[in-house]
Amino acid sequence: MAAERKTALVTGAASGIGRATAERLSRNGWNVLAVDRDTDKLGWADDCDNVAGHAADITSQEANLEMVAEAERLFGPLNAAVLNAGVTGGGGIDDLSFEDFQKVISVNLFGAVLGVKAVLPSLRKNGEGAITLTSSTMGLAGDAENWAYCTSKHAIIGLVRSLSREIGWQNIRINALCPGPTWTGMTGAIKEVAPAHYEHMKQSVPLQRWADPEEMASVLEFLISPAASYVNGHAMVADGGAMVGTGLVLPASSGKAAIPKEIDH
Ligand SMILES: NC(=O)c1ccc[n+]([C@@H]2O[C@H](COP(=O)([O-])OP(=O)(O)OC[C@H]3O[C@@H](n4cnc5c(N)ncnc54)[C@H](O)[C@@H]3O)[C@@H](O)[C@H]2O)c1
Repeated sequence: MAAERKTALVTGAASGIGRATAERLSRNGWNVLAVDRDTDKLGWADDCDNVAGHAADITSQEANLEMVAEAERLFGPLNAAVLNAGVTGGGGIDDLSFEDFQKVISVNLFGAVLGVKAVLPSLRKNGEGAITLTSSTMGLAGDAENWAYCTSKHAIIGLVRSLSREIGWQNIRINALCPGPTWTGMTGAIKEVAPAHYEHMKQSVPLQRWADPEEMASVLEFLISPAASYVNGHAMVADGGAMVGTGLVLPASSGKAAIPKEIDH
């Protein structure tokens, strides 16, 4: 007899990491509610029996409650939630307006908090469950002209660490994924509009390439799966090794000067 399908809700599922995750979960035996505010790009869900697309703006408390109600109506209480929707928000401190900062925080942080609040009662009905929030390597380190985004992603890790301490006894795990540069709708244009920046980012990754969204989906699937049953409160980095260095010394493969073997003092 086939194993009973579990149910996951994935936000930001119209594109990039969210879509790759929703598709992967559906292939691997999950029912999936694929949530996004961009309904035009959710059409892919129509071709999958066990996936339903759902329009929601995660900055709305009501929309968060409705998406969980819809998942329960279609598939029953949630076993997992991949709260992944996010937006960029570059600009220096003198350039990015406070209103634009609020927009970034409203999606990346408030949206995540509203999502957690909405999914928890549903997960509790199953007596166990798992949540992932998508942070970033920029949730672990700062970057020039990216303070709004970095701030929002640092906050996600604080949220995950705090809630893991609070809800672990309910048998609900919560973890963060910290992706490095990944080819998605969010970042795909960089190669064309800022080729030097694209090259710099590539050189900064020991694997010398950006990630495919599927490489993030596999980590997110792991984090909500029984294989990660003792992983809780963790900020899991998947960045091709970029964050383990200081970034101060370029590898010889970059074609730029590495540290000489001998230095004449
Ligand atoms: N791509 C990268 O290099 C990278 C690196 C680190 C972290 N991340 C994070 O990964 C997550 C997924 O990003 P991605 O790269 O797949 O980008 P993406 O733009 O391809 O996908 C993000 C999705 O979120 C949706 N979304 C945005 N605001 C929303 C809202 N208010 N309500 C509902 N849906 C909303 C968008 O419509 C889009 O479909 C984001 O949280 C992002 O910050 C991405």
